Amino acid sequence: MSIDVVILAAGKGTRMRSDLPKVLHPIGGVPMLGRVIASAKQLGEVEITVVIGHGADLVREQFADSGVKFVEQAEQLGTGHAVAQAIPNFRRGSTVLVLYGDVPLVKTGTLQSLLSASDKGPALLSVEMANPAGYGRIVRDDAGRVQAICEEKDADADTLAIREVNTGILAAPADLLSQWLPELSNDNAQGEYYLTDVVARSVNENIPVTGVRASDPLEVAGVNSRAQQAQLERALQHGRALALMNAGVTLLDPARLDIRGGLECGTDVSIDINCVFEGEVVLGNGVQVGPNCLLKNCRLADGTTVEANSIIEDAEVGQACTVGPFARLRPGTQLADGAKVGNFVETKKAQIGRGSKVNHLSYVGDAIVGEGVNIGAGTITCNYDGVNKFTTEIGDGAFIGSNTALVAPVKVGPGATVGAGSTITREVSTDELAVARGRQRNISGWQRPTKKF
Ligand code: UD1
Ligand code: CA
Repeated sequence: MSIDVVILAAGKGTRMRSDLPKVLHPIGGVPMLGRVIASAKQLGEVEITVVIGHGADLVREQFADSGVKFVEQAEQLGTGHAVAQAIPNFRRGSTVLVLYGDVPLVKTGTLQSLLSASDKGPALLSVEMANPAGYGRIVRDDAGRVQAICEEKDADADTLAIREVNTGILAAPADLLSQWLPELSNDNAQGEYYLTDVVARSVNENIPVTGVRASDPLEVAGVNSRAQQAQLERALQHGRALALMNAGVTLLDPARLDIRGGLECGTDVSIDINCVFEGEVVLGNGVQVGPNCLLKNCRLADGTTVEANSIIEDAEVGQACTVGPFARLRPGTQLADGAKVGNFVETKKAQIGRGSKVNHLSYVGDAIVGEGVNIGAGTITCNYDGVNKFTTEIGDGAFIGSNTALVAPVKVGPGATVGAGSTITREVSTDELAVARGRQRNISGWQRPTKKF
């Protein structure tokens, strides 16, 4: 069965009160439209047409490389009119699946059930709602067969009492839709061309309509406001937290975790509260992440501990390392096994060798640090002359005294020692001691000034 997916994304999203088109607002770090496209692609060989209108250029731009086609609906004359814009892209004999750019959590499995019910005629996805206000109601006959969808504004009191509502998601043979959609009328309370009218049309033509019920209202919930966006964000995060716990991860509080990308965890990983994971993050076995950390596009190998309030971005951390508290590993940081980067330390494009320590208040940027090096508190690599960046190299076993400024480009050889408070501008060779600071002068019997008046 070939599937032609149509994703409606032309609406303005007025209630978002945003300059950004609604479907570009993210859930779990991914634009809502991106989530819908991804779910559709999981169905297999699909052709996807996105119907755009408000903010069309921005949407087109963001999804230029996604392999979808775009059609523009200049005026939003209704959902039926919107789907009709995609008719030229329908393939003969295919099944059309209508999705919505602002219904981001729909699951591929649900769509598969709907598609299997739609080979002869339309199949619609419905859901039971305690409060169905605003939705189209599913009208069934005494035998339970779907007869029509009645929009709220067109409904009488009896119809309004129906709690089975239309999610809007529908599958139908392309050949039927191609015929029916151009023949829709807008003679209704809203003066719109309703996609939902194809249901009554089908029944009229003795082609039965199947209703498939979704079990989870959140899966088919649309986003019209920031509050609804936040609600779906929580729902998504809750699901991800549950999945992690089921896979053996300890979450100190599953309600205080945010994953905006992919998070892969080994066994016995523990994550404390208020951590945010962005992009692709991989945590090895036994990794412990303390509270309030932000980890973005990074890999942490087995047994590593990240203490509270640390930020790690575009970095590789080896086994049994310790990071933080209050450390910031910026892009290009690589920590070899057993390395330690402690409080108020910033690293950038820095390789820190096996077992080396940068424990306090330092900046290590554009640096290659060997194994077993100790970098004292307050050490700074002066990597920037205002125009260019230069590299600092520190050999195995070197000891850099506290409050050293290493003016790059500069090398400190293996086993070398730098006295505290030095400003190092020349190479220090293997096993040398370098001290570059004013000599201490002691004056005995010094009289402190006294108050004159
Ligand atoms: C629609 C359904 C209703 C269902 C509800 C579920 C119709 C007539 N009604 O109503 O039965 O219960 O969804 O949420 O289909 N859009 C376009 N172009 C248009 C009109 C709409 O792209 O010309 C897009 C909107 O951006 C929106 C979606 O289609 O994402 C739904 O449109 P909307 O007008 O909100 O439909 P509802 O009135 O909610
Ligand atoms: Ca409407």
